[in-house]
Amino acid sequence: MSFDFTALEEEARQKIAQAQDAALLEALRIQYLGRKGLLAEITAIIPTLPLEARPEYGKNANLLKNKLNQLLEARARQIKEDATALFEQFDFTLPGAIPQAGTAHPIAQTVKEISDIFTKLGFVIAEGPEVETEFNNFTGLNIPLDHPARDAFDTFYIKSPSHQVTRSPEKEKNRFLLRSHTSPVQIRVMKKHKPPLAVIVPGKVYRPDAVDASHSFMFHQIEGFLVDEDVKFSDLKGILSVLAKKLFSRNIKMRFRPHFFPFTEPSAEVDISCILCKSHQVTKSQGHQEKRCSVCGGKGWLEIMGCGMIHPNVFANVGYPKGAYTGFAFGMGVDRIAMLKYGINDIRLFYENDLRFLRQF
Ligand code: DAH
Repeated sequence: MSFDFTALEEEARQKIAQAQDAALLEALRIQYLGRKGLLAEITAIIPTLPLEARPEYGKNANLLKNKLNQLLEARARQIKEDATALFEQFDFTLPGAIPQAGTAHPIAQTVKEISDIFTKLGFVIAEGPEVETEFNNFTGLNIPLDHPARDAFDTFYIKSPSHQVTRSPEKEKNRFLLRSHTSPVQIRVMKKHKPPLAVIVPGKVYRPDAVDASHSFMFHQIEGFLVDEDVKFSDLKGILSVLAKKLFSRNIKMRFRPHFFPFTEPSAEVDISCILCKSHQVTKSQGHQEKRCSVCGGKGWLEIMGCGMIHPNVFANVGYPKGAYTGFAFGMGVDRIAMLKYGINDIRLFYENDLRFLRQF
């Protein structure tokens, strides 16, 4: 085995010159001069060389070793000097680099905004699981097994051993599904706590809806309920009008339309006056506006939630004594409210993770 000392020195010179910091330089020192390094390898073969070749070879090895030491030392000094120079030149008064921070998703912002309005009114926030029992999602809320109202909400079931078993009210407590609304949290909270209660429940819900500009198989709701000894429908109206005014504008009008929900009686759907046009002020005889409003379609009203007085059967299902309490409940779609607030015309935009959209909020 023989070594080309000139080539080795040249190669080392280049590598050492390229080392940008002390750690890299130390790695090179070990590679060349370490106990198992190149120089150790070079000297190890001296005893195998012919006697007359040894002095010359030994001298070259020694020269290489000294050269490497010199190069390493010089580069170490240089690295140190460069660092000092950089430090001295550095302007510590410069503003720092601005970290890349994300922003809250428009849905999260809307949830927070609505939650803040309610917490200021004394409501507390509760959450429930997205995988819910069939009982809490339906029967507890007075939606019996064979009730047609189940169809609109029928949802994604979680396969479990008990899933195969024929349906019965008892088995519903062991059958699980992705909740189709946040109302089941009423059952969970009321089972655990006695009135007075004022609770809002934000969360994700699931429905087997085909996805289009206004439907998504997953969306967000905020449920709210208030239970005490003498809660009246007018209390419900008062609270919801505060919400509408705070969320949209002071001038917003609100109307209640009779509706049916199994878990409330009486029940209503809540409309607000269109945030874009003033069609709600147009009387029938005046007819519709020439150009149909793109938000309300010329109706002048926008449906934003369902509500009502909690059905006595719901109180019975959570074990409250008959006639002891009254209360109201309401449920709204957060996505729809965010769309109205920000003028978004396609629900899918919320779920595409397109930064061009998200950065606007
Ligand atoms: N759970 C209903 C839904 O998903 C919304 C709702 C309507 C909630 C009326 C309520 C209520 O609490 O009283 O469509």
